Amino acid sequence: LFSAVEMAPRDPILGLNEQFNADTNPAKVNLGVGVYYDDKGKLPLLQCVQIAEKAMMEAPKPRGYLPMDGVAAYDAAVKTLVFGADSEPVKSGRVATAQGIGGTGGLKIGADFLKKLSPNAKVLISDPSWENHRALFAQAGFTVESYPYYDAAKRGVNFDGMLAALNTAAEGTIVVLHACCHNPTGYDITSTQWDQVIAAVKARKLTAFLDMAYQGFGHGIVEDGAVIGKFVAAGLNFFVSTSFSKSFSLYGERVGALSVLCESKEEAERVLSQMKVVIRTNYSNPQIHGATVVANVLNNPELRALWEKELAEMRVRIKAMRQKLVDGLKAAGVKEDMSFITTQIGMFSYSGLSKDQMVRLRNEFGVYGTDTGRMCVAALNSQNINHVCASIAKVL
Ligand code: LMR
Repeated sequence: LFSAVEMAPRDPILGLNEQFNADTNPAKVNLGVGVYYDDKGKLPLLQCVQIAEKAMMEAPKPRGYLPMDGVAAYDAAVKTLVFGADSEPVKSGRVATAQGIGGTGGLKIGADFLKKLSPNAKVLISDPSWENHRALFAQAGFTVESYPYYDAAKRGVNFDGMLAALNTAAEGTIVVLHACCHNPTGYDITSTQWDQVIAAVKARKLTAFLDMAYQGFGHGIVEDGAVIGKFVAAGLNFFVSTSFSKSFSLYGERVGALSVLCESKEEAERVLSQMKVVIRTNYSNPQIHGATVVANVLNNPELRALWEKELAEMRVRIKAMRQKLVDGLKAAGVKEDMSFITTQIGMFSYSGLSKDQMVRLRNEFGVYGTDTGRMCVAALNSQNINHVCASIAKVL
């Protein structure tokens, strides 16, 4: 039965973890996957999460099946976080939100629903994009193409190219946009450029699918989520997938969601019913624990404030490591101007290193980043920074 089954290629991000775990180099550093580690190199277990979990342990609850769309209090908390508690979409009930298995799960629910809704639409993702976007939408049956995004020479966004592609896209094209902290480049478009993107989405009747996996890692929760308000103000209906993997350091709990902004409450009910069909036929219904933790934190003012403080600490530490990386590379003898690292935001730096250089970094120095040159600066710390800088200096 399986004799003709070919070996699938290693996943470009998660596959690196396997290679990293098998590496015996004591100086190894994992800058591959997008995971935040603290300055001691430890994966944080946030205080707000610990307090919420303690309370849950003290009042244990039975574990029946969740509804297909997940924990109700969680879905409500996602809506208010993404759209704003007092926002018109939340108040009028025209947002359909379902808990997803991580942000990836939110994307998958949306992709499968869209395939039924617009079977012939093309999907456009940024060039480059998160490695899994193309695979995920292709797996849902779509033809996936890209719009220009990264300008290597400028070390920034090729905005003219991006806008031109959107302005010539066929009606109904699904456009996947990174709401903040673009993965992998770390370059976001400006607020004015968002206005132009939104105008193009509206004029060309495109379907916007915002991926917001890093809210709070750029400039702040409100600032990073501001683009959602712009899409709402433009009167668009759109998709937004969100994730608490990074912002709550709950990677393994797989807590994400898909929210769809509809025309009316009645339309949102119909859309949610279709999202439930996708969920039921994929995995029936989601898990209880992680989403309950997030709901209990977001819906409790004290815990919510603690979460915001802890998230800000992560954001500030990442920014400090960016500066240390720039300084460290200079001290290690790198002549090139690397200051672009501090103009990028979020967890990643698109270093501009070639695949050969990234492979050398991995094989000779145990420094793991993706083949595309993406490095997770959120995994740098005072202990590994010198080794990383010296290693990069050697391959440059
Ligand atoms: C990443 O880009 O490294 C993260 O989003 C983790 C993943 O699932 O790829």
